[in-house]
Amino acid sequence: MTELPRKKLFIKTYGCQMNVHDSERMADVLRPFGYAISDTPDDADLVVLNTCHIREKATEKVYSELGRVKALKIAKAEAGGEMIIAVAGCVAQAEGEEIMKRQTAVDLVIGPQSYHRLPELIARAHRARGERLAADFEAEEKFDALPADRQPAGVTAFLTIQEGCDRFCTFCVVPYTRGAEFSRPAAAIEAEARSLVARGVREVTLLGQNVNAYRDPDGVGLADLARRLARIPGLARIRYTTSHPADLDDDLVRAHAEVEALMPYLHLPVQSGSDRILKAMNRAHTVETYLKAVERIRAARPDLALSSDFIVGFPGETDADFEATLGLIQDVGFASAFSFKYSRRPGTPAASMGGQIDEAVKTERLARLQALVEAQQRAFNAAQVGRSLQILVERPGRHTGQVIGRSPYLQAVHCEGATNLIGSIVPVTIVGAAHNSLTGRLALELA
Ligand code: 5AD
Ligand code: SF4
Repeated sequence: MTELPRKKLFIKTYGCQMNVHDSERMADVLRPFGYAISDTPDDADLVVLNTCHIREKATEKVYSELGRVKALKIAKAEAGGEMIIAVAGCVAQAEGEEIMKRQTAVDLVIGPQSYHRLPELIARAHRARGERLAADFEAEEKFDALPADRQPAGVTAFLTIQEGCDRFCTFCVVPYTRGAEFSRPAAAIEAEARSLVARGVREVTLLGQNVNAYRDPDGVGLADLARRLARIPGLARIRYTTSHPADLDDDLVRAHAEVEALMPYLHLPVQSGSDRILKAMNRAHTVETYLKAVERIRAARPDLALSSDFIVGFPGETDADFEATLGLIQDVGFASAFSFKYSRRPGTPAASMGGQIDEAVKTERLARLQALVEAQQRAFNAAQVGRSLQILVERPGRHTGQVIGRSPYLQAVHCEGATNLIGSIVPVTIVGAAHNSLTGRLALELA
């Protein structure tokens, strides 16, 4: 197929790691058809916006980006060329053909279940200029239809094991956009992991919207899946995200004590530190059960570092509720965190709740919360100075003779070292810490 003319593909990814992963898979399915990734939309033959719907701002960003891409499409048409614009991801899922009405330059709208059909749909859009397509949004077995010989981007890779969410937090669109929970068979995941390792991958991050609810058709849960994957020779590190505190079962906790490859870093969103708000959010956990979960997992793996998601300004959140969230952050101590102002998502229960919070109050609370978690993150990073950490070397650094790797706690570590170390796990003495990264010195002279 090498004779095919090269076509330029630009993909812009918004939102979560699931989307980052889906974008890689879209590039994989399109590669055999002559599409090569371009880092700019100018002059691209195909522009894909892989969108996120989780907060209103994310959706609005997509529409303004579409406006910019439309101008490029017009310029290209005037020069006698052709550009196809596709909208993928959760905005596509949620708004469907509405997008084509609102932005007439869009040729194709495609939901997350139909990515394996991208080449066919693009070919159709090319053949019949002016035909505008909205791909089916029913759940299909999209995974198995994607090529198995995907090219991993480096020594770390994402591997989707579960999609969808049945939890229905009252603020969240995911159960509507990504649908019901669905887990892939463990055997298929293991086969994909083996093929990734054969291509040089040393670390996999298992992805799912509610990943620890993973249970395959044969009853294999996340803990057993991790045990199975840990036996693959060459696969050194396993991570998983995103977990729900109420689905952290004892077996998974035990796996953190037993399975060396399971990294001591867990993203465990709590959202709020007030039971009243957690109840209104339909989170299915309380502050106490969250703290208990943290205690259980830290008992199994004492060096485990935690990160979390927080929402400030959920409807009805009082100053006291917010202070309780700050209190929880003080009590737990996080290595990092994501925090958001509550954003009203049409169709979710919280959107029509009374007691919506003023934007200014949300802004102020967010700033206070972020200052606290940033201080914790800095302290966590600073605490690594002087320690020796096992670093998985991932890529060259900005300057020659430098490489960048990851600590077990997902911190980026910059150090002097040759690029032939990429893919190795090496001991590094941490000598400096900044807000977002560490610097280190190779502990051994490695030829
Ligand atoms: N408003 C603000 N934040 C939200 N999140 C999900 N939905 C909303 C919303 N409507 C946040 C949650 C979730 C993360 C992925 O995004 O904190 O854990
Ligand atoms: Fe959304 Fe809640 Fe499901 Fe997470 S657990 S995806 S916040 S509904």
